[in-house]
Amino acid sequence: MVCLGNICRSPLAQGILELQTRLHGLVWEVDSAGTSAYHVGETPHRLSCKVASLNGIDISKQRARQFCAKDMDYYDRIFVMDTDNLRMVKELSGDRWQPSKTSLLLYVLENTDIQNVPDPWYGEEENYHAVYKLIQAACEKIVLNNITRLK
Ligand code: 4NP
Repeated sequence: MVCLGNICRSPLAQGILELQTRLHGLVWEVDSAGTSAYHVGETPHRLSCKVASLNGIDISKQRARQFCAKDMDYYDRIFVMDTDNLRMVKELSGDRWQPSKTSLLLYVLENTDIQNVPDPWYGEEENYHAVYKLIQAACEKIVLNNITRLK
């Protein structure tokens, strides 16, 4: 799960997908990263922690890190929060770039016109709740798609 700072959106996405995989008995390694190094080593944003916690998820132990080319090799799927960061993921991946395993997170939601998970960095708590809802819907879809495929 990749965003810009790895402190607002992608830590929520990591926490939500970890919970969803646990609930469905899947053993997936889930991680998150930012395309920037602005907040490396920091805990998730206070409002991401609060909204996660209100939904029963503890993301407070996560620490921000920057996406690197090795991630492109290591992970089977890379989900990116918006088109700017998708471009950055491509740039940071260099010759390891694999478009077939990389997509915008919201592409899994077929019934929406929204492409990007909006950046809540300058927003209020309600913006974090809206982001949570979008990411939650996408993560449920990812897990259900995989379960259906296994049947
Ligand atoms: P995120 O949000 O990409 O969802 O973690 C942001 C966090 C920090 C900044 C921008 C977006 N920033 O400009 O520092």
